[in-house]
Amino acid sequence: MEPVRVDVATPSRRYAITIGDGVLTRLTRLLDEVKAPKRRFVVSSPTVWRFHGERFAAACQAEPIIVPDGERYKQTPTVMRVYDALIKANAERSSTLVTFGGGVIGDLAGYAAATYLRGISLVHVPTTLLAQVDSAIGGKVGVNHPLGKNLIGAFYQPLAVVVDPAVLGTLPRREFRAGLYEVIKYGVTSSPSLFERVAHGHKAIFKREPEVLTAIISEACRIKADVVTQDEKESGLRRILNFGHTAGHALESVTKYRRFRHGEAVGYGMLVASELAVARGVMAPSDLQALYAVIASLGPLPPIGDITIPSILEAMKHDKKVIDGRLHFVLPTGIGSWSIVDDVTEKELKHALAKVGLKH
Ligand SMILES: NC(=O)c1ccc[n+]([C@@H]2O[C@H](COP(=O)([O-])OP(=O)(O)OC[C@H]3O[C@@H](n4cnc5c(N)ncnc54)[C@H](O)[C@@H]3O)[C@@H](O)[C@H]2O)c1
Ligand SMILES: [Zn+2]
Repeated sequence: MEPVRVDVATPSRRYAITIGDGVLTRLTRLLDEVKAPKRRFVVSSPTVWRFHGERFAAACQAEPIIVPDGERYKQTPTVMRVYDALIKANAERSSTLVTFGGGVIGDLAGYAAATYLRGISLVHVPTTLLAQVDSAIGGKVGVNHPLGKNLIGAFYQPLAVVVDPAVLGTLPRREFRAGLYEVIKYGVTSSPSLFERVAHGHKAIFKREPEVLTAIISEACRIKADVVTQDEKESGLRRILNFGHTAGHALESVTKYRRFRHGEAVGYGMLVASELAVARGVMAPSDLQALYAVIASLGPLPPIGDITIPSILEAMKHDKKVIDGRLHFVLPTGIGSWSIVDDVTEKELKHALAKVGLKH
């Protein structure tokens, strides 16, 4: 099967996402096509490199820089390790940095590429489902600060994104599911057909059949690409990507980022937003039921019965995306359509949070 190409056209750069089973083997050709400078480095993690380093090395000549991943390493000291390796290797401006890992590697190594010598060429080869459908697309790179997530960063678009669903074969099931919640997010905001595919095809999805994965990943990438094409720096439309993220971020933050994978918190967050929408009468209860059903079909989410509503309300007040003191919510108005509101009252929120199972 020929790979699928999805174009991303932001004001700062046009590039393609190439998606296909086994596409990693064509990496050198894809890099040459976009004229990625020939001195090439690959930043990866011990886990990813252990599983897929050999395949990468067979496909592309690049000098490996291996740094730890996992959220607690998404910090400036790890970026410094990438700089150290680049400097020791005398990497010049005309070098290419390929990121090969999940969202943590993509974000932190992408940030290193954006800042080393004021920017070298960047290509993402994401290896988690979340990175393939979300973090590798759109140019946001960065690291956490001890006082908050993703506070340090830049917009830096890659020359290309290369997505091979075959690498997902080794992904732990929980990580795989975490990515699927983001796929559902795209379905609810923008694509009834994608929503249906996940709702009715989860058996084949969980078998990680390459054609099935290629189809859902391509559709998700198309939606994200479309949104960032229209709104590179998140002044308007890009906000729809935050569906489920307002309550999701609050859940992550009150549990100190330990209980949930990000996608799992978004799973709950989408239910909270949808409960708000149903209570306002803008979403049909049957659509909400369909969302509950698809989320349940992916397997159990971590429990939330011990988390109190006031703690979530408090955490929401500190949301980075509060604009002029107002919380914005993306509310579905059906499967595949949405509205953004900024007038949700505390009473409405309490009701929605209780509905999904939080404690008074
Ligand atoms: N830049 C953006 O626009 C954007 C968007 C969404 C999320 N993010 C960021 O992405 C990060 C989360 O990314 P993530 O969910 O990919 O987590 P991650 O990068 O921590 O990867 C999760 C785990 O999977 C392992 N792994 C990766 N690929 C594997 C493979 N093919 N086989 C086996 N194991 C593999 C990793 O070693 C890690 O332990 C967060 O830091 C988040 O802020 C960024
Ligand atoms: Zn997300």
